[in-house]
Amino acid sequence: MKTIIEPFRIKMVEPIKLTTRDEREQLIENAHFNPFLLAAEDVIIDLLTDSGTSAMSAEAWAAMMRGDESYAGARSWYRFRDTVKDIFGFEQVIPTHQGRAAEHILFGVMVQPGFIVPNNTHFDTTRANVEYKGGVALDLPCAEAGDIDSDYPFKGNMDIAALEKVVAEHGPEKIPLIMVTITNNSGGGQPVSMANIREICRVAKAAGIPFYIDACRFAENSQFIKRREPGFENTATIDIAREIFSYADGCTMSAKKDAFANIGGFLCTNDAELAHRERNILILTEGFPTYGGLAGRDLDAIAVGLCEILDENYLNYRLDSTRYVVDRLLKAGIPVVAPAGGHAVYLDAARFLPHIDPLQYPGQALAVELYIEGGIRGVEIGTVMFGLDPHTGEEKPARLELLRLAIPRRVYTQSHMDYVLEAIGQVWERRNDVRGMRIVEAPKFLRHFTAKFERI
Ligand code: F0G
Repeated sequence: MKTIIEPFRIKMVEPIKLTTRDEREQLIENAHFNPFLLAAEDVIIDLLTDSGTSAMSAEAWAAMMRGDESYAGARSWYRFRDTVKDIFGFEQVIPTHQGRAAEHILFGVMVQPGFIVPNNTHFDTTRANVEYKGGVALDLPCAEAGDIDSDYPFKGNMDIAALEKVVAEHGPEKIPLIMVTITNNSGGGQPVSMANIREICRVAKAAGIPFYIDACRFAENSQFIKRREPGFENTATIDIAREIFSYADGCTMSAKKDAFANIGGFLCTNDAELAHRERNILILTEGFPTYGGLAGRDLDAIAVGLCEILDENYLNYRLDSTRYVVDRLLKAGIPVVAPAGGHAVYLDAARFLPHIDPLQYPGQALAVELYIEGGIRGVEIGTVMFGLDPHTGEEKPARLELLRLAIPRRVYTQSHMDYVLEAIGQVWERRNDVRGMRIVEAPKFLRHFTAKFERI
């Protein structure tokens, strides 16, 4: 059968409030043209993020009822810890309330002013946490990542030659860790190959630098390896995941992505002494080491979600349904990052709106128009997000101008995606009339969350 079906039935629904185009014109203006400032009930299809927005399963909800809320040594903690160890294989597991808390603790113990952290592409919170410690967050994406049309299967890869150069130049004295983000969220949701992960491991080991993985979408990345990397066709996805982490010294994870949970995360390492220092910060900022800012029921939901996410039927549906949207956009000639990534569709705002200068934020303008057209909320990944150097205050165009439409797991159906496609098509028709934006007010760090805009 060719028809993609959602491999689940729906037994509880959340109504969507429908708004008119006129209402949305007013609502987005009231939100200072920043979709983050909209009330969720005024959004029809919310593609702002796939983080914490997944639908949990009957099993996960049942597990929540078993949540043990003991302060120390809860049953939920052991179930969580054992599941994480089973899949990720690290000796030390530190629960946190979400991914950025794990990053904050990790960089808190490892980064000092002037240190350099190479990554294929830092996610915004990862970058901000490195920079907050005075470090330099260095992106080293492979050459194909910058070519939106290239159908290279692993555009999330790191540029190994560039990594070797940086490592040779600065060494372990200045590079506290090397990180790779799977899948590469800010680079278009593209996967990283096993071969690339092995190479990063080789470079890191040779230089005596710890290698960490930002594991947020590890299951999607593993399934891409199964589908695209020769030699893995017949390997179980869970074994691919285990092999990935076997090359690393630790990981950070947001359970809000590939664990179907609404909240949660963790930090892992094989270094007991480091873990000891990390737990001391954890106690200060998150909580006791057996719950780390999470309720027992959250730990149980994550334990179930981590197992469910590796269901290959689910993962095939997930990748196919994202590809469905990308394929139709390509067919219509609408510029989009290809091949399809796992968790999101990335419209290429630079080519969608070529008449808008990068410093007038084409991605933001597209986000605003898509909301007005169909009540669809996405997020700019471009100059608003990455264009400002917080240290110098200098603003320059980002490498890519994208509008990300992230797809929550198991939440929207194929007909919702058809609606999204129709709305994008309508904005495409009237693209020449879309105007750029200017920032009226914004903070220095992570400005995209709260910046206020006006139309030029
Ligand atoms: N790393 C990556 C690659 C991410 O995508 C995110 C979050 C984080 C770290 C931080 O995790 O939100 O649990 O603190 N990404 C979300 C997104 C917010 O919309 O892509 P968190």
